[in-house]
Amino acid sequence: MFRHVLVRASEYPWLDSGQAWPGFLSPREEAILAGMEFLPRRRKWLLGRAAAKRLVRAMSGPQPVAETGISVLNRSSGEPFVLVEGRGEWEFPISVSHRSEVGLAAAPEDRGARIGADIETVEPRDPALVRQFFTSGEAELAASSGEAGDEVVARIWSAKEAVLKLLGLGLRLDTRGIVVDLRGEPFLECPAGWRPLAVKVCVEAPAPPVPGLLRVLWRREANHVLTVAVAG
Ligand SMILES: CC(C)(COP(=O)(O)OP(=O)(O)OC[C@H]1O[C@@H](n2cnc3c(N)ncnc32)[C@H](O)[C@@H]1OP(=O)(O)O)[C@@H](O)C(=O)NCCC(=O)NCCS
Repeated sequence: MFRHVLVRASEYPWLDSGQAWPGFLSPREEAILAGMEFLPRRRKWLLGRAAAKRLVRAMSGPQPVAETGISVLNRSSGEPFVLVEGRGEWEFPISVSHRSEVGLAAAPEDRGARIGADIETVEPRDPALVRQFFTSGEAELAASSGEAGDEVVARIWSAKEAVLKLLGLGLRLDTRGIVVDLRGEPFLECPAGWRPLAVKVCVEAPAPPVPGLLRVLWRREANHVLTVAVAG
């Protein structure tokens, strides 16, 4: 259904200084990084590229291109896409997410599908996030989840972001229009280690329609929640 790669900042000592390491970035990416001033942004951006390039190489067969031949770029909407030197745009859509210590990239195994991926830290959050961005049902669930409340909030928020990314929209849309039910029905092709969520998209135009069956899956990795949404 999809492939994903999760990388950790501890694998890349150069990240501490916000620098790329030799043989990693393409010339286009070098130019983009040169325009980034802030260390946290540089770190996250590099972590996203590290995950994405590893994924592209893993999905590229026995003779993958060098990392410097892979450019992970963004459309004007912010959506990521990949250019492979000498071959043009990579045939799979890709989605990228990063926190300060981890980077995630995911791509569907079906070229025609759409994908959105998100990673969130399980931690106490400002209650304003729930008030402003959750439906009343989601907020009630979070409030009644006791010790599991931080994970519940992370799961709901991550699912909303993954679906918004699948739609190519980011937070331009009202997040309450992405309605998350944590009790998803198991399905046959559910990849090992992932669990289903049920998500309804109740937003109005100008949001693009979800292209086909929407599948949303999540997993816990240490203190992070990973979510991948696939449709098509
Ligand atoms: C998609 C979005 C929701 C991601 O937000 P985030 O949780 O801060 O960051 P993540 O690390 O999970 O994702 C960032 C990645 O999303 C991808 N992305 C950005 N815009 C996107 C879009 N319209 N569609 C799909 N993917 C998008 C990019 O690949 C980006 O990483 P990159 O810039 O290194 O390539 C972001 O586009 C957005 O709308 N940000 C608005 C910021 C904002 O208002 N923040 C307030 C938060 S309460």
